Amino acid sequence: MKALVLAGGSGTRLRPITHTSAKQLLPVANKPVLFYGLEAIAAAGIRDVGIVVGETHMEIEAAVGDGSDLGLDVTYLRQEAPLGLAHAVLIASDYLADDDFVMYLGDNFVVGGIIPLVDRFKAERPAAQIMLTQVPDPRSFGVAELDARGRVVRLEEKPESPKSDLALVGVYLFTAAVHEAVAELKPSGRGELEITDAIQWLIDAGHRVESTVISGYWKDTGNVDDMLEVNRLVLESLEPAVHGRVEGNSELIGRVVIEKGAVVRDSRIVGPALIGAGTRVSDSYVGPFTSIDTDCVIADSEIEYSIVLSRSSITGVRRVEASLIGKDVEVTPAPNTPRAHRLVLGDHSKVQISS
Ligand code: DAU
Repeated sequence: MKALVLAGGSGTRLRPITHTSAKQLLPVANKPVLFYGLEAIAAAGIRDVGIVVGETHMEIEAAVGDGSDLGLDVTYLRQEAPLGLAHAVLIASDYLADDDFVMYLGDNFVVGGIIPLVDRFKAERPAAQIMLTQVPDPRSFGVAELDARGRVVRLEEKPESPKSDLALVGVYLFTAAVHEAVAELKPSGRGELEITDAIQWLIDAGHRVESTVISGYWKDTGNVDDMLEVNRLVLESLEPAVHGRVEGNSELIGRVVIEKGAVVRDSRIVGPALIGAGTRVSDSYVGPFTSIDTDCVIADSEIEYSIVLSRSSITGVRRVEASLIGKDVEVTPAPNTPRAHRLVLGDHSKVQISS
């Protein structure tokens, strides 16, 4: 079995983090979201991974390399333009040959990995196995309609009036039957070859398509609340570990990871929290659900439920909450505005002025 990981697409829509134009490289708990997918693939016992790349191929290749660090053998497959998820399958057909494969969208995050799904697929080998998840607004997803027995009867890509609240998760398992479907497709209304249409083609042609409903799913929407939330999810399963130095009058409570070269001095860290390699925390409080990336400085400050990316500093600020701070940022207190009291006080007045 192989894996096809989609890390192409145009690199233009990223907000609010702009240091990477590849959305698959946005960090979750100090690690690019793409890596969680690759690790899940490796954990499921798959070694051969084709990564579809586009405009941002240099960034992706620099981050992933040949995959050997993750126990993978990575082959890059260049897609000249983001012409659709099924187009990615089309250009990968020589690489995939007749093998079964898992297709994994590089910007998707599935809590708990994919081992049970791969096991089920191997045992049953339907033409396609999809994952669905309930979402509040399905209009920006592929949406599945199930019959009374829970079987998928219809899939629609980004419908204006969704028939259900079950969105397609970006992890699909296929046998080689999908190549025939993909070869038959015409571009959709948005000009893309849709994998949703390929799966619908398989259903219509009488192939077996199985589905599983999962929870614990996340996809980047460019929304800060979503990023904080997925960060929280990942931090909740941290294994506490101290690889750096904890000095002076410091206290670590709960699931706290202090990475190599990090120094915590006279500070209180309440987990789950992650202090990245080379980061220095002094005279500060770092509260739950916070990840501080590498080489940051947190001095004389309080921060919780936040993400701070590499080389940023927060000095003399209390308190920072529910915040996303990019790379190379400096946060300092505002200088005191000059205060003046202009008074006209009558005889025998008594005033109290707080200054
Ligand atoms: O995330 C789940 C959704 O993903 C599904 O519910 C939809 O049915 C499915 O069509 C897809 O929708 P999106 O519009 O969210 O897909 P997006 O264009 O964001 O692409 C998903 C990933 O695949 C992303 O990492 C970029 C990559 N990609 C995308 C296209 C269109 C490619 O590598 N090549 C492409 O041609």
